[in-house]
Amino acid sequence: MAQSYAGRAALVLLSHPAMHRSRVNAALLGAVRARPDVTVHDLYKHYPDFVIDADAEQKKLLAHRLIVLQFPFYWYSTPALLKEWMDTVLLHGFAFGRGGDQLHGKTVMVAASTGGDPAAYHAEGYNRFTIAELLRPLEATAHLCGLTWAEPFIVHDAIHIDADEREKAAAAYDARLSALIEADRA
Ligand SMILES: Cc1cc2nc3c(=O)[nH]c(=O)nc-3n(C[C@H](O)[C@H](O)[C@H](O)COP(=O)(O)O)c2cc1C
Repeated sequence: MAQSYAGRAALVLLSHPAMHRSRVNAALLGAVRARPDVTVHDLYKHYPDFVIDADAEQKKLLAHRLIVLQFPFYWYSTPALLKEWMDTVLLHGFAFGRGGDQLHGKTVMVAASTGGDPAAYHAEGYNRFTIAELLRPLEATAHLCGLTWAEPFIVHDAIHIDADEREKAAAAYDARLSALIEADRA
């Protein structure tokens, strides 16, 4: 039976290969997973063999207004399965190119955790580039697909922040989703 997404405004595409060890993404997810207006889709749980059902994924995208890409930053990029998801799902004629206007008008937001502290993501820091610069390929992808790019939600210093800070980050994530959903309805 086809799944109903009635009332679900946001689709959280969670991409974390080791959620059983996660502290930050687990806390973020904990704050939003029970929301009636959010669908959480755990890509690594759903596709442990990396064989993605493009048709099912496209239907999920079509049923939501806000797409959230939630992941730990891996080598200045996304975990591999999220890249595979993009390669498989964002097809010509669906997401871009002739007739590829199916995602136009939706919004996408990156929600990422980093091991590096904020100062490291700077021209003089040890990562050399800002997060905004490193997320440019995703921003360009959003642009090509006619998606509105929302300000990314970043939790830095994931390895060091304590439970209290994780809880604050989770509440801020929840509030950000509310604000985006509200803005889209207005
Ligand atoms: C393979 C791998 C690559 C990583 N690459 C980066 C990176 O490029 N930049 C960074 O700040 N942290 C990097 N990290 C650290 C993770 O981003 C960090 O462990 C994660 O955000 C913690 O989130 P979690 O508690 O949900 O697991 C990397 C970790 C792994 C395992």
